Amino acid sequence: MGLSAILFVASILLSSFALSCYASGTFSALEKSLLVTSSPKAGHVLKAGEANITVTWSFNKTFQAGTDSTYKTVKVKLCYAPISQEDRAWRKTKDELKKDRTCQHKIVSRPYSPSTNTFTWTIERDIPSATYFVRAYVFDAEDKEVAYGQATDAAKKSHLFEVEAITGRHASLDVASVCFSVFAIVSLAGFFYLEKRKAGSSMQK
Ligand SMILES: *[C@@H]1O[C@H](CO)[C@@H](O)[C@H](O)[C@H]1NC(C)=O
Ligand SMILES: *[C@@H]1O[C@H](CO)[C@@H](O)[C@H](O)[C@H]1NC(C)=O
Repeated sequence: MGLSAILFVASILLSSFALSCYASGTFSALEKSLLVTSSPKAGHVLKAGEANITVTWSFNKTFQAGTDSTYKTVKVKLCYAPISQEDRAWRKTKDELKKDRTCQHKIVSRPYSPSTNTFTWTIERDIPSATYFVRAYVFDAEDKEVAYGQATDAAKKSHLFEVEAITGRHASLDVASVCFSVFAIVSLAGFFYLEKRKAGSSMQK
């Protein structure tokens, strides 16, 4: 597990680096100019690693024309509903976007386009059991949030759905099989290297 430990440390370093150079405003200052829908019906229970969510987003055409001239990219995220944030400081909603922990799971990132965009996402295997909704953030050329839209109302009562996580046993089996595959590839590479060396030295004789 040495490699995954190194990768883990590297990803922590990278993400704290990314956080520290990331200029951020407040959620309340964002324009709510995107129309977003998500496919699960309210209250649906979806299995992580199996179920799909289809998200659509587009510019709200009745919003003041031209407001989207600075829009560059859209990042669609899976966000914790209030019921799954209770007593969990690590999922807390903060107006300051840099500190907000509501939307921790990225679904997709796409260049901005005002027309209808559709993306179907298979819920990733590491998504924890919770109640969620979908939100899309719009970023400008400086990678700063400028607008958003979400597939729920302000009180986050509609279009909430549940994700049922993969059980711990399955998840650890997956980890084991990944480790085993890496081991197999490394040993195969080592084997070929030794074979080549052997062939090389026998040619010199
Ligand atoms: C989700 O999408 C994938 C890939 O398109 C497909 O193989 C799978 O059957 C879908 N799952 C469900 C539950 O519809
Ligand atoms: C679209 O924008 C208009 C104007 O700001 C607003 O009144 C309307 O509620 C928005 N539509 C949705 C579905 O958010």
